[in-house]
Amino acid sequence: MLKNTPNSFGSIAKTFHWVLALGIVGMLTVGFIMADMAPSPSKWTLYGLHKSTGVLILLLVILRFTWRLLNPVPQLPSSLKPWHHRLAKLSPLALYTLMLMMPLSGFILSQAGGHPISVYNLFTVPALFPKNPDLSQIAARIHAYGAYIFIGVLALHVSAAFYHHFILKTNVLKKMLPNWFGHP
Ligand code: HEM
Repeated sequence: MLKNTPNSFGSIAKTFHWVLALGIVGMLTVGFIMADMAPSPSKWTLYGLHKSTGVLILLLVILRFTWRLLNPVPQLPSSLKPWHHRLAKLSPLALYTLMLMMPLSGFILSQAGGHPISVYNLFTVPALFPKNPDLSQIAARIHAYGAYIFIGVLALHVSAAFYHHFILKTNVLKKMLPNWFGHP
């Protein structure tokens, strides 16, 4: 099934989820490593890779969000207490905000810093605004603090998925796993 049903995510939503999960964990890891490196050709290669993949991730997040709007979102288990239900509904809001905020702040910090954004050396994103070191610095701060907040929110997200699966024994995790793990 390509589309979501009221019971489970479809294969398109699952593919978006796992491709972006891998991409974002990779971006966080490479981001911290490259920012800590002394200036060298390998550092600038990693910057290029990070920026290219960041632009690709921004496009995927926009497509993923559009797909989410076009599909029913599987319901949470009815056994959840009202406070738990409200908390669970905050999770996609926090995750989508961060998934947009990270690439956008990276994009702004590079462009306002006067650095071109070449996407895998295939094309260069045109400058959308002139060089502005103050704006670049603010965006760099948002990008760095955002990364720590993202790690915290991801840790909560993964813990909640495991808590549902192993403690509450709901089918929440199975709804996002490939079907070879069994149908939810
Ligand atoms: C999902 C998307 C992204 C994630 C998770 C991410 C994550 C990170 C992290 C963790 C750092 C290190 C922060 C620090 O210690 O200063 C970083 C740095 C950086 N990122 Fe990203 N990033 C993303 C997208 C982008 C994009 C789209 C661009 C530009 C087009 C970009 C440009 C940069 C640059 C230039 C730095 C170095 C900043 C500095 O040296 O002060 N990032 N990123």
